[in-house]
Amino acid sequence: MVTDKIKKIGVLTSGGDSPGMNATIRAIVRTALKNNLEVYGIYDGYKGLVEGRFVKLEHKDVADMLEKGGTFLGTARLVEFKDVEVRKIAISNLHKYGIDALVCIGGDGTYTGALKLSEMGVPCIGVPGTIDNDISSTEYTIGFDTCLNTIVEAIDKLRDTCSSHHRCSVVEVMGRYCPDLAIRAAICCGAEVLITKPEDYNPEELIQSLNQAAKDGKKFAIVVVAEHTIDVNQIAKLLDTNTPFETRATVLGHIQRGGRPTAFDRVLGSRLGAYTVQLLLEDKTGVCVGVKGETLINMDIVEANKLPKKLSKELRQQAEDLK
Ligand code: F6P
Repeated sequence: MVTDKIKKIGVLTSGGDSPGMNATIRAIVRTALKNNLEVYGIYDGYKGLVEGRFVKLEHKDVADMLEKGGTFLGTARLVEFKDVEVRKIAISNLHKYGIDALVCIGGDGTYTGALKLSEMGVPCIGVPGTIDNDISSTEYTIGFDTCLNTIVEAIDKLRDTCSSHHRCSVVEVMGRYCPDLAIRAAICCGAEVLITKPEDYNPEELIQSLNQAAKDGKKFAIVVVAEHTIDVNQIAKLLDTNTPFETRATVLGHIQRGGRPTAFDRVLGSRLGAYTVQLLLEDKTGVCVGVKGETLINMDIVEANKLPKKLSKELRQQAEDLK
């Protein structure tokens, strides 16, 4: 049921940027304005919130944003936001601008910030924007699909040169502590080896499996490694010395975070942005939004924070089975 309790909303993007954040902000602004809400953008995430850097957003401010990567509001990681005194400054700034509710777009850390603000009485909604797909309350986060496509394109290119030189490429992909990008990249690129946790790394077995692959006639190989597991240079050295494959290591790095959002991320960001405003119009806050299949969902932010990490057993197995 629509109420008129919320009249002015703030929106920020925090943590690592992700493609589709701009599409999300655009949808929030346009849906809010259509429903006579005022919208304030907050620069550089919680940092701008604490420093009082707010800007009123109008329809034209989000024109030509849908297809742009990154976030035009800017983003930051503010470790000091853990400090309750710092959060009190943020809240006083929200009061100064008369903001009734805050929309926080980001990943894990952003959700923790939104949860802490909620506990202090600020009506918040969390929107999942991160390449990592590490938010359990949604099947997909905004930016994950674009990032995966960027990784696949990069590994396809590595495959071209690997196949020409009969080499092995050891590729590190992002995802923080979530294996989703690595697992899907391995499936998409037909990786010979996938390492998503330190326990997956057994030097003897790895050498043996690549030697066997060479005996079976494989002319090149791709090893996908999730970041924060094993140093890719170390793996490359091991394989270069102990297998017939000359081996190179590649850390894909921040190239994975940029770029034009895919159609999937534009649609997801637009849908979740509009849905967030619908919830605000019903005075529903203290939740985070997400998607399950085709359906938009919302969940209590406290409950969402308690959810276990998503399991990717079936996909992990698929990556193994299709080698
Ligand atoms: O959360 C997004 C992400 O790109 C992770 O995949 C990665 O671990 C981290 O951010 C890198 O952070 P920074 O850009 O601060 O180096």
